[in-house]
Amino acid sequence: EKGNHRHYMQKEIFEQPLVVAQTLQSYLRSYEQQVALPDMDFSFADVPRITIVACGTSFYAGMVAKYWLEQFARVPVELDIASEFRYRQPVLEAGGLALFISQSGETADTLAALRHARAEGQRIAVVVNVPTSSMAREADLLLPTRAGPEIGVASTKAFTCQLAVLAALAAKVARDKGRLTEAEEREIVGHLSEAPAAMNAALAHDGDIEKMAPLIARARDVLYLGRGPDYPMAMEGALKLKEISYIHAEGYAAGEMKHGPIALIDEHVPVIVIAPSGPLFEKTVSNMQEVQARGGKVVLISDAEGLAAAADDRLLATIEMPKVHPLIVPLTYAIPVQLLAYHVAVAKGTDVDQPRNLAKSVTVE
Ligand code: M6R
Repeated sequence: EKGNHRHYMQKEIFEQPLVVAQTLQSYLRSYEQQVALPDMDFSFADVPRITIVACGTSFYAGMVAKYWLEQFARVPVELDIASEFRYRQPVLEAGGLALFISQSGETADTLAALRHARAEGQRIAVVVNVPTSSMAREADLLLPTRAGPEIGVASTKAFTCQLAVLAALAAKVARDKGRLTEAEEREIVGHLSEAPAAMNAALAHDGDIEKMAPLIARARDVLYLGRGPDYPMAMEGALKLKEISYIHAEGYAAGEMKHGPIALIDEHVPVIVIAPSGPLFEKTVSNMQEVQARGGKVVLISDAEGLAAAADDRLLATIEMPKVHPLIVPLTYAIPVQLLAYHVAVAKGTDVDQPRNLAKSVTVE
């Protein structure tokens, strides 16, 4: 079943252009260049606030969705980890939409949070990969991802498919709220349609990433930095690495470095900087230079334009991404962080598909 691949995780990473295209197909009408969601018995126009709840990698997809929903639809979005949401007595406005994101649809904390939100009068939307799961059954609005079965404990293709669905959802909410013109909707559909090809171009750098993996494999701690929607990608990169390679890793918002974490920097702590060219680039690069000034060894992930602008012989390595529209940056940059974790784990000889202490579906609270 793994085909030519050594691990399920590797197979699932390489499947992403296909399954993201498949997922997008159910949410985009390519002829009309419109976003299409399943039928629903309420309108987003009436939704005053959206509360997103999830765990782990699905939570990071939710973090990216918060940026999109606020940017496109100008709707207030609250976001929480399921195990925190349940116990903090959240204030939920009547008629609000609660959005749950889960690969398995069975994660105990997320399911309990869903039931809590329902009891509090929220409408329940669910982005889920297993269509027969408990969460799928309990949704008012079911938004399936079409990633197919995900076997590796580390979530990869489910994550990028979640991002694809969430981008379509953000566009639809924006349309219903009158915040997006037809022409703007067409543009969004156009950019999303480019994601599978961009992901293929990102996968082409697999060999470069494999070559640099030994440099990271000997580290004890690794930091990931990003800004804006690249911040959740930094968190996701760090989670992937710790989960399968057992190297301690943390993701930080690039601007937070000087509020504490920069004290960790020395030549033994590689810092992975996620910085596509664009409006946030210069700010992130200046944070990167602060790290370098303290002897930090940086791996920069950017496009050709960004890599040229930030060229520096102190860089430990670079990973070149295709130049893509900001909307599909998270979908594209998910690939190098997944591949880096994968190759580091392989270099270390850990059990990539079945890492210690972890289960694919966390059904205990
Ligand atoms: O099935 P879910 O998406 O609800 O699972 C949530 C987390 O347990 C999951 O994303 C976990 O963090 C992954 N192992 C990360 O790779």
